[in-house]
Amino acid sequence: MKASIVLLPGDGVGPEVVAEARKVLDAVSAKFSHQLSYASHLIGGIAIDETGDPLPPATLTACKAADAVLLGAVGGPKWDDPNAKTRPEKGLLAIRQGLGLYANLRPVKSYPELIASSPLKPERIAGVNLLVLRELTGGLYFGKQGREQTDRGVRAFDTLEYVDFEIRRIVKLGFTLARGRKKKLTSVDKANVIETSRLWRQIATELGKEFPDVALEHQLVDSCAMRLVTAPGSFDVMVTENMFGDILSDEAAVLTGSLGMLPSASLGEGKLGLYEPIHGSAPDIAGKGIANPVGTILSAAMLLRHSLGLEREAAAVEAAVEHALAKGARTKDLGGDKPLSTGAMGDTIVEALS
Ligand code: IPM
Ligand code: MG
Repeated sequence: MKASIVLLPGDGVGPEVVAEARKVLDAVSAKFSHQLSYASHLIGGIAIDETGDPLPPATLTACKAADAVLLGAVGGPKWDDPNAKTRPEKGLLAIRQGLGLYANLRPVKSYPELIASSPLKPERIAGVNLLVLRELTGGLYFGKQGREQTDRGVRAFDTLEYVDFEIRRIVKLGFTLARGRKKKLTSVDKANVIETSRLWRQIATELGKEFPDVALEHQLVDSCAMRLVTAPGSFDVMVTENMFGDILSDEAAVLTGSLGMLPSASLGEGKLGLYEPIHGSAPDIAGKGIANPVGTILSAAMLLRHSLGLEREAAAVEAAVEHALAKGARTKDLGGDKPLSTGAMGDTIVEALS
């Protein structure tokens, strides 16, 4: 098949890890006789530097016309000034909204070789394979915000709103994804306190009737945060609203002890998706050639699966990563005596593909 991919390397380690993922995409498409074409565009801090806008219109237009988007990372200390007119992170929020990407998939999987780097006891982390499904274009992130002077002092506010269809489409995706996995869906809310959560729980319960083969449970977000640490193996798919998902997915991401390994996908109604590692721009190690490219490479695998419908190819990339790890390939963040550079890790995975 032919497909066009927009690369958004962004800031920090973004360009280094995206280059490795492209190597792997090239190798897998050569192996299975596909033709992928790429175009790079600006986002984040570098886009602010060059155009004044963290998401230049040309970038959004190119993404809309592509089959999939692969992003590195945005942000860094250079753009952290709280008084600045705009911020790199705005580019990320704007592209999610601009492409209608309401579903954020963050799979967390424990690899046998890396269990020792987990902050949890080995028996707790072994075999963990869960998916945080986060709503991405609603809730507090996109509600009315403001700040004003009042008699009582400066008042600031953010608004948490959801319309029923926004809840229904993400929870439904949760059921569908759980159906293809361990058939268990944990719907996470704060229904004992907030109204949007009560609507969320009501809709999840209604939808449960359409998916009798999937076990649905409701869990309050605070106790869910505890359970993620005490019994991470008890989860399959966890579906939740934007802000809860932001927090829980960071918590889930450190469980395996290897932030650099974790991919993500952001999806909307159609096939177009945005794929990025969850580790961020890591400015402290940017430009040193030591970043772990695996999170981006596994994001590329998700791109093959969800946007291009190439399941066999996606599985081949995932198998190549596992093979490289089993052979002892480790970047600096994964420990080991002789850590590989970013490029050498990419090469090892490419070799494992052939
Ligand atoms: C994430 C990040 C973003 C978010 C920030 C950078 C805007 O934390 O993707 O989880 O909060 O969504
Ligand atoms: Mg976050």
